[in-house]
Amino acid sequence: MSSPTSPPTPTMFDIDQAAAALRAGTLVAFPTETVYGVGADATNDQAVAAIFAAKGRPRFNPLIVHVPNMAAARRIGVFTATAEKLAATFLPGPLSLVVTRTTGAGLSDLVSAGLDTVAIRIPDHPIAEALLRRVGRPVAAPSANRSGHVSTTTAAHVRDDLGDAVSIVLDAGPTACGLESTILDARRDPVVLLRPGAVTSEEIAAVIGYEPVRAGQPATAPTSPGQLASHYAPRAEIRINAMTVAPDEALLAFGPSPPPHDGPMVNLSPVGDTTQAAINLFAALRALDAKGVSVIAVMPIPETGLGEAINDRLRRAAAPRGRF
Ligand code: TXA
Ligand code: MG
Repeated sequence: MSSPTSPPTPTMFDIDQAAAALRAGTLVAFPTETVYGVGADATNDQAVAAIFAAKGRPRFNPLIVHVPNMAAARRIGVFTATAEKLAATFLPGPLSLVVTRTTGAGLSDLVSAGLDTVAIRIPDHPIAEALLRRVGRPVAAPSANRSGHVSTTTAAHVRDDLGDAVSIVLDAGPTACGLESTILDARRDPVVLLRPGAVTSEEIAAVIGYEPVRAGQPATAPTSPGQLASHYAPRAEIRINAMTVAPDEALLAFGPSPPPHDGPMVNLSPVGDTTQAAINLFAALRALDAKGVSVIAVMPIPETGLGEAINDRLRRAAAPRGRF
């Protein structure tokens, strides 16, 4: 966790420096409303390649491109009527839209890992917005963690995972949502849910009239490697839907009546609120992992609201490792 006092707020000077660093081709970590991102100039092949190296990320896993507004978004992607409607409601905000790439927009091919699509996101965060406006180029930014590891919700997590691979970390304290953006393939109707996230399926249905179709099980070359079976994982083994906890396990609890436990424990939400649980999830997994236990037992979490995205991350964290 970051310091208990109020977090440092980057100044305009810091943001200008970070924008210059991005334009010069180095990596900069920055806060968004979901998780911290590690950004690179999306038009610079070498800078984008440096992201894959810093994260240890497979090259077939494409990156989300961040822009400050819809004018910039429409320069790099083709928005259908449904995509426009979703954007008008949810952007800026924690929804990434996969659309067809426009030709000649100057994006590095590495960004899309050879696909003819691009995932576009307009973060709802004043520091991210100011940074993106100053860079003046699209910024490719995956979550700022080692590939396959838990996403980062504080600047300290970013330094723990990526160290000196990033030139600057803009620290604006813990992120507001705690979970990554929802990713929708919005190229055609019906839209397809590639990754559940901070915008719920219910909220999307309220705008387009139906819940997005769930993407199928991951194949060997997934359309969204956020669908990779083992992902978002701490070092410890994860045991989901645990009703009891062994003395040598850590407990990730939810709700007002966790089983009694003398070992390491974090309660994601003593009042049983999935939004609060989402905010705490990744920091809790990191904190319990740091205790050196070999198993983290996780109590059942309801599938409602942000529960869908939380359970998606927990199932991936519990999946056998070493499989993409
Ligand atoms: O909240 C977020 O989305 C954070 C912040 C930093 O913006 N970013 C994030 O990026 O979570 P990342 O790279 O960790 O996850 C992006 C996911 C990956 O699973 C990737 O496969 C998928 O988006 N993706 C990116 N481009 C895609 C595309 N063209 N088609 C399908 N999936 C894509
Ligand atoms: Mg990620």
